[in-house]
Amino acid sequence: MQQPAAAGALTPLLRVRHLGFRWPNGGKALEHCNLEISRPGLWMLVGGNGSGKSTLLRLLAGLLQPSSGSLTCSCTPALVFQNPDHQLLLPSCSSDLQLGLPPGLDARERRLAVQQALALVGLAGLEDRPIHSLSGGQKQRLAIAGAVASGASLLLLDEPTALLDPASQEEILALMAQLTRRREQPLTALWVTHRLEELERCDGAALMHNGKAGSWQSGHALRQQLERQLGALPGGGAKR
Ligand SMILES: Nc1ncnc2c1ncn2[C@@H]1O[C@H](COP(=O)(O)OP(=O)(O)OP(=O)(O)O)[C@@H](O)[C@H]1O
Ligand SMILES: [Mg+2]
Repeated sequence: MQQPAAAGALTPLLRVRHLGFRWPNGGKALEHCNLEISRPGLWMLVGGNGSGKSTLLRLLAGLLQPSSGSLTCSCTPALVFQNPDHQLLLPSCSSDLQLGLPPGLDARERRLAVQQALALVGLAGLEDRPIHSLSGGQKQRLAIAGAVASGASLLLLDEPTALLDPASQEEILALMAQLTRRREQPLTALWVTHRLEELERCDGAALMHNGKAGSWQSGHALRQQLERQLGALPGGGAKR
């Protein structure tokens, strides 16, 4: 695994320092959470239910405000939800993508931007397709196209494959691996998962526990560590 650049060598794309977040009911979701991403790539977060993964993504997307600590990000973030039906709002692929395009484009530029966004995710030519007729994997690819077309360079993906069958899961993984490793303008992705096999595909993985993120390590090593822990549970259970 390539290590993120040493501190100080590069301005990080994302830096989270001692981030804390409390819900209005007083519940603590994050406490002294530190995380840094120094280069584009496919970065994964894994951790138990309630460890703070979704809250961290919402803070990074600007949907929540930290209670303490600091968060600096030189990229434009966009969230990709677990369920694309919560994200895709308009009836056709083209109309939905148009909704998120940056302002100031004329009609021809908007058409071109939609065409390019669809081609980017392997949905070329589906401008007029009703969204309800797409498969789950196609909907998730459209949600990713929308995030990219809106100008985002940091994709925050919250269990994007949890509702998908294995073939669609693989498609989304392959797509994000390609977009984060392309030569020109590679994206940065922060991908939350409970599917340990996905860790094999990342550039680095961190374990979230009790509102804190551990340091980056290889996805393979983290998978092995977590599978050993799961195997040691009574019954060797597949605990989510
Ligand atoms: N809207 C809310 N109001 C109050 N507490 C919340 C709210 N949403 C989440 N929490 C709490 O914040 C903590 C962190 O939740 P979060 O959803 O970030 O965890 P997670 O790691 O994404 O879990 P999961 O793997 O189940 O998705 C948990 O204790 C959760 O119960
Ligand atoms: Mg969550």
